[in-house]
Amino acid sequence: MKKITVNTIKKMKLDGEKISMLTAYDYSTAKYIDEAGIDMILVGDSVAMVVLGYENTNSIGMTEMEIFTKAVVKGAQHSFIVADMPFMSYHTDIPTAVKNCGRMISIGANAVKIEGCNDYTVELVQRLTESGIPVVAHLGFTPQSQNLLGGFVVQGKNLEAAKEILEQTKKLEKAGAFAVVLEMVPEEVGKYVTENVSIPTIACGGGKYCDGQVLVCDDIFGKFSDFKPKFARRYANMQEMITQAASKYNEDVKSGSFPSDDEVFHLSSTEIDQLEEKLCCCIQ
Ligand code: KIV
Repeated sequence: MKKITVNTIKKMKLDGEKISMLTAYDYSTAKYIDEAGIDMILVGDSVAMVVLGYENTNSIGMTEMEIFTKAVVKGAQHSFIVADMPFMSYHTDIPTAVKNCGRMISIGANAVKIEGCNDYTVELVQRLTESGIPVVAHLGFTPQSQNLLGGFVVQGKNLEAAKEILEQTKKLEKAGAFAVVLEMVPEEVGKYVTENVSIPTIACGGGKYCDGQVLVCDDIFGKFSDFKPKFARRYANMQEMITQAASKYNEDVKSGSFPSDDEVFHLSSTEIDQLEEKLCCCIQ
């Protein structure tokens, strides 16, 4: 399978082919997702909640995000890898932001994702693109601004707000963003934006008319169980699988049925004889 590039993703919109995107945070998950043929992998800052157990995504920094991104880069051969830029890694000033985004590309990510749209982010997208760093924008509900937005709240719920999301997407597209994630917006707004911009739109709770879909892998695998977003679909129950496997292992250890003879190493008979001789000497 050929490596997916920015051009592949742009062409998929033109051809009307849906884009699949999933998050991944570690080597083996990235490998399996890649083998499953998923087009794009997002090393999302959702890792803060679903892997590290933090309360929200704002508690994670560059150091951790770089570690998770490196692991995903090692695992995925064909999927296009997007590194999510953590809270405050791109907000203070353009040179620091470009440097931090550049670090993600240096370790093997193919693009970065940044949230929101204002004069600063528009300039940043332009500077990143000029520096050779592909950018995925993120509009609608932007989790890093949840304190400002009053929690996990659906965005774009009236005509004015819908128009604003379209205008923001157009500004970011003009600045160079090659795709946009639309999170928690009504399906009609997802459709309206998708039909009025040339860059691919990727829905995260943005309905079926967007050019692609992204979900958190722990949600679709049924591994994260603290809550289930309305827009996430569960394809497996890893929580049950893990609990069942761990309790069976617990039983086997306690009963002595683990390890079996197949699961241990043995000395050769000569070594056993020598060891027994040594033991006898020691005892005498
Ligand atoms: O961090 C994340 O997982 C995201 C979503 C868009 C899936 O940003």
